[in-house]
Amino acid sequence: MKASAAGKCVKAALVTPLAQALAERIRATGPISFAEYMRECLYHPQFGYYGKREGRRFADFYTSVDVHPIFGRLLARQLAEMWDALGHPQEFYAVEAGAGTGRLAGQILDFAARELPQFYSSVRYVAVEQSEARRERHREMLRTHLEKGAAMSCGALPCDIPAGCIFSNELLDAFPVHRVLLEQGALREIYVGFNGESFTEVRGPLTSAEIEKYFQEQQIRLQEGQQAEVNLDACEWIKEAGRRLGRGFVLTVDYGHEAAELYNARHMRGTLLAYSAHRVTEDFFECPGEQDLTAHVNFTALDMWGRHAGLTRTGCASQMAFLVALGRGNEFADLCDDGANEVERIRARLLLKSLIHPEGMGETFHVFIQHKGVAQPHLTGLAGL
Ligand SMILES: C[S@@+](CC[C@H](N)C(=O)[O-])C[C@H]1O[C@@H](n2cnc3c(N)ncnc32)[C@H](O)[C@@H]1O
Repeated sequence: MKASAAGKCVKAALVTPLAQALAERIRATGPISFAEYMRECLYHPQFGYYGKREGRRFADFYTSVDVHPIFGRLLARQLAEMWDALGHPQEFYAVEAGAGTGRLAGQILDFAARELPQFYSSVRYVAVEQSEARRERHREMLRTHLEKGAAMSCGALPCDIPAGCIFSNELLDAFPVHRVLLEQGALREIYVGFNGESFTEVRGPLTSAEIEKYFQEQQIRLQEGQQAEVNLDACEWIKEAGRRLGRGFVLTVDYGHEAAELYNARHMRGTLLAYSAHRVTEDFFECPGEQDLTAHVNFTALDMWGRHAGLTRTGCASQMAFLVALGRGNEFADLCDDGANEVERIRARLLLKSLIHPEGMGETFHVFIQHKGVAQPHLTGLAGL
């Protein structure tokens, strides 16, 4: 292994307890893969970004869920239509993976209880969140639905989901990724080393044969010097989701591209970014455990690995197309609560704009849907395609 050509030694590193722990570990056993570094930064039980309580709400970034409840309300309508497509099973599992503090779950269930009572009576909502600190919030966010038996809170996907939909918002972009580059025609992996003062990028052999296979199966050829991320965890996750689902859908909302775009010359440095205090940087070694790290999702890989578990691609729409298709049926009447005054109505319309605006979340985010055991489903959210 050798230090990267850029000789990238980034800042005085030992500013957080996690940085100290990682430096110790690397000193003792040598460089670790970037995926391992990212896993610790995000999911270390004590010091990881997602291990901690969501103390600094909106401090670093916000998601569609935080913008306005219309996102959850329209998603609830799409779930209800999936329940229709499955022939109204008595128990419809709405499994939200990466449910965070349960905000989206609350929005979907509150709306369904009020506006879609028949659907609500069949819903078994499972809010899946690996972080115990975030799961603790489910009790308060979902109290009435937990008490009625319409919801439960879990740390992992249920083993058996007879009929329903497994869905997520900004889950897969938060999975640890391997970083690779093409050097003299061969794939090499970027590791994280420590030079006594700072973390450094170190190049070495691939940590897993699966990485080479990932590129071969999708017929991706990087350009000389190009860097890219490989989200093997997402491939495993979609396979597992498909295996556990009896009949129904997997719906993924995230920013991402098809492989041909994700790995083209516009992304010579990959798509990995660090978010802190609404600042976006490529300083992945700054304050380990205190900043979010994310990479774009590869929808082609979700499709291919999903097929291994019986999932078929239903379609992929921009978030804008998805929300507009679901909202236009009743002219976005779900946007405002009864009795909202004019100021509240204007505010709600402005917030809706930021969810669907092409230069904002509307085109950056996509809704990728797969199905299993349902013949040619028609879904309104994909109707604009
Ligand atoms: C970017 S946050 C998104 C939270 C929420 N979906 C939203 O839109 O606000 C990603 C969440 O996924 C959780 N997570 C990551 N990997 C997970 C896994 N394998 N199973 C369940 N939750 C996971 C994280 O702890 C975190 O709460």
